[in-house]
Amino acid sequence: METNSNIRIETERLILRDLEDRDREVLPILMNDLDVTRYLAVVPHPYTRSDADWFIDKTLKNQQMVPRTDYVFGIELREAEDLVGAVGLHHISELDQKATLGYWLGKKYWRNGIMAEAAKKAVDYGFKKLGLQRIEVTASTLNQGSNAVIRKLGFEFEGTAKRYYRAKSTGDFHDANQYSLLKENWKM
Ligand SMILES: CC(C)(COP(=O)(O)OP(=O)(O)OC[C@H]1O[C@@H](n2cnc3c(N)ncnc32)[C@H](O)[C@@H]1OP(=O)(O)O)[C@@H](O)C(=O)NCCC(=O)NCCS
Repeated sequence: METNSNIRIETERLILRDLEDRDREVLPILMNDLDVTRYLAVVPHPYTRSDADWFIDKTLKNQQMVPRTDYVFGIELREAEDLVGAVGLHHISELDQKATLGYWLGKKYWRNGIMAEAAKKAVDYGFKKLGLQRIEVTASTLNQGSNAVIRKLGFEFEGTAKRYYRAKSTGDFHDANQYSLLKENWKM
């Protein structure tokens, strides 16, 4: 499996790159919003600078691992240079050659096709650069946006797991739709 650091991937409108120290400032601005975090499993609300520090510290440490078990691609608009969200390949298993996809975007950037464009590249990276066999993703049954992004990318619905996780931000339990995509079914 290939490993990479200092990642920079360009799409038509976006730059996907490793998170950096300077992202500590903007993370609380984007993430201190229940509309962004209510369906995320491990993100607290309110979201403070110390939460951002914890996340960036963890991510920077992970960037040094060989092989990496986690890739968080920060998303920038090419026209601005600010972080607007992130998409990640998590829990990468070298043995199983699989990973879990996750993503979020600051609210004011929603509904412009940004996550479809970014997640497509992250999935492509997982299959082509990391040699994954399977990428999986779960989304609360209530999370219309996430379920729509997943289906648009061509993920296959595998079933609904009842009371699968609890969102840290609200304490609510969620039923979760489970989806997967296999390498041979990926078309970019
Ligand atoms: C889920 C999320 C990342 C979607 O990002 P986005 O950039 O707005 O999504 P896109 O604009 O790329 O939309 C992709 C498709 O999903 C559809 N879609 C997006 N949001 C939707 C919504 N709230 N309801 C219904 N459809 C939606 C779009 O219409 C588009 O489909 P189309 O091309 O057929 O029209 C964003 O809403 C978000 O950050 N939510 C909070 C964090 C979160 O829930 N993350 C996922 C955890 S599993």
